[in-house]
Amino acid sequence: MELRMNSFIILICLLTHLVACEPQCSKFDYEEKTLAKMIRTEILVEQVMSDIKQLKQQTNDAVTSMERMKTELRESIQSMHAENALKFEEYNNTIMKWKDRLEIKPDVVFLAKDPTTQSPSHGSTIIFGTTMYDVSQSYDNSSGTFTAPVAGVYAFTAQMCLHHGKSKYIYYAIVANGKKVSNSLTYNKDTRFCNTAQSFVALDKGQTVHVSALSTSAVPLRQNHSREWCTFSGILIR
Ligand SMILES: *[C@@H]1O[C@H](CO)[C@@H](O)[C@H](O)[C@H]1NC(C)=O
Ligand SMILES: *[C@@H]1O[C@H](CO)[C@@H](O)[C@H](O)[C@H]1NC(C)=O
Ligand SMILES: *[C@@H]1O[C@H](CO)[C@@H](O)[C@H](O)[C@H]1NC(C)=O
Repeated sequence: MELRMNSFIILICLLTHLVACEPQCSKFDYEEKTLAKMIRTEILVEQVMSDIKQLKQQTNDAVTSMERMKTELRESIQSMHAENALKFEEYNNTIMKWKDRLEIKPDVVFLAKDPTTQSPSHGSTIIFGTTMYDVSQSYDNSSGTFTAPVAGVYAFTAQMCLHHGKSKYIYYAIVANGKKVSNSLTYNKDTRFCNTAQSFVALDKGQTVHVSALSTSAVPLRQNHSREWCTFSGILIR
């Protein structure tokens, strides 16, 4: 009975001791907990590392895609620039083509008469000494030359009236920019008459027009006559 009692007390003591002692008091338990914590930490670190890696990959992908977008944007801007330059050139060419037509041009019209000589020499310019009108001041009555003040299409006429007498003739031409643009031969056996040469010419600004005596008989022209006028005239059509 006493032995049983002792055993019971020892058991109580042991239990009390076990209960009273906290689990962490055990060295084994502490190490186990630390190990568990370390494992958890390691898992966590691995997780974070993997997250970082993933984040890095995503960042790289984003950078790559942004760079691709940048390249595409640059290419599309470049092609837009090229397209615009082409369009601009097209428009500019069209404007340039029409500029001349849209330009408000001055009135250009003149009439001169009275050759300064009755006997112009072969190949000479017939100088019409009296300026009847010349709104743009483009005809020079001392040289017989008209100078185009603007580019455009012009009309010119030259009228020659023969002098009294048999077998008078004059072969003459309107000469524009150094080229014959109208030829005429006036020949008279015994009556007096006039004839007219005319021409339509496109001129650049500054190009000249005059009447040239190509071949003549002796003293062919009427000069400063009241009824028959030798004239040179021109007008800018457009
Ligand atoms: C437009 O065209 C004309 C003649 O084709 C050229 O001289 C001029 O430089 C052009 N202007 C521009 C701004 O490109
Ligand atoms: C010759 O032309 C000038 C202008 O250039 C003018 O003043 C003059 O009156 C003209 N002469 C004649 C005779 O028409
Ligand atoms: C033309 O004749 C008129 C009158 O006869 C004269 O006044 C004038 O000066 C003459 N003109 C020329 C260019 O010969």
